[in-house]
Amino acid sequence: VIVAKSSLNSDFFAPAVIQDIEQAARAVNFTISSDVPTGSLLRTLAATKPGGLLLELGTGCGMGTAWILDGIDATARLTTVDSNAQFSAIAQRFLSGDPRVTFYVGDGEAFIKSQPPAHFDFIFADTWPGKFHHLDETLALLKPGALYIIDDLLPQAIPIEGHLARVENLITTLEQRNDLHITKLNWSSGLIIAAKRAHS
Ligand SMILES: C[S@@+](CC[C@H](N)C(=O)[O-])C[C@H]1O[C@@H](n2cnc3c(N)ncnc32)[C@H](O)[C@@H]1O
Repeated sequence: VIVAKSSLNSDFFAPAVIQDIEQAARAVNFTISSDVPTGSLLRTLAATKPGGLLLELGTGCGMGTAWILDGIDATARLTTVDSNAQFSAIAQRFLSGDPRVTFYVGDGEAFIKSQPPAHFDFIFADTWPGKFHHLDETLALLKPGALYIIDDLLPQAIPIEGHLARVENLITTLEQRNDLHITKLNWSSGLIIAAKRAHS
């Protein structure tokens, strides 16, 4: 049997800083960074928003942040939010030299409530507020045509109490909205990409 070598392989061409972030996250036992395929997807989607305003809810140690920054152009701006100062400080150590990113250390819920409606072109919701609660408020922050991305929808390597039920509820809620076009990706950690419809 001859097996053709496919270029559809797992080469993701990660930005160099990813390795440093991985190492720093490991040193503080932070095990919930976005994986490489998700990072690559974030970079690709972020690149569709030149001059855009992007938001990441849940900075962690900066893995998603680094990939998004690798995707956006010089005029786009990213705000990333985390309530944990220690994790955010790790991300800032590697990424705060980039003038396009602003680090907000504080509760995601308060941040969401402080933002004007239809403000963002891209939201990666990778923590509780914006995903499992304060969903309506977060979706209201999307401009028409903006992207809303969530990951970790498949069962987790380390089981989290109630995760499956929360995810099922979230997917049903998103499917019932008539202002979004959603695509479910049974890939990587399990993702949904939603686009805010210009007319619902
Ligand atoms: C899954 S991690 C984020 C991973 C990161 N986006 C990445 O790509 O590697 C979730 C983060 O949410 C933060 N977090 C938990 N509850 C929060 C809240 N209420 N507001 C803001 N951040 C929160 C945690 O400190 C943690 O760093």
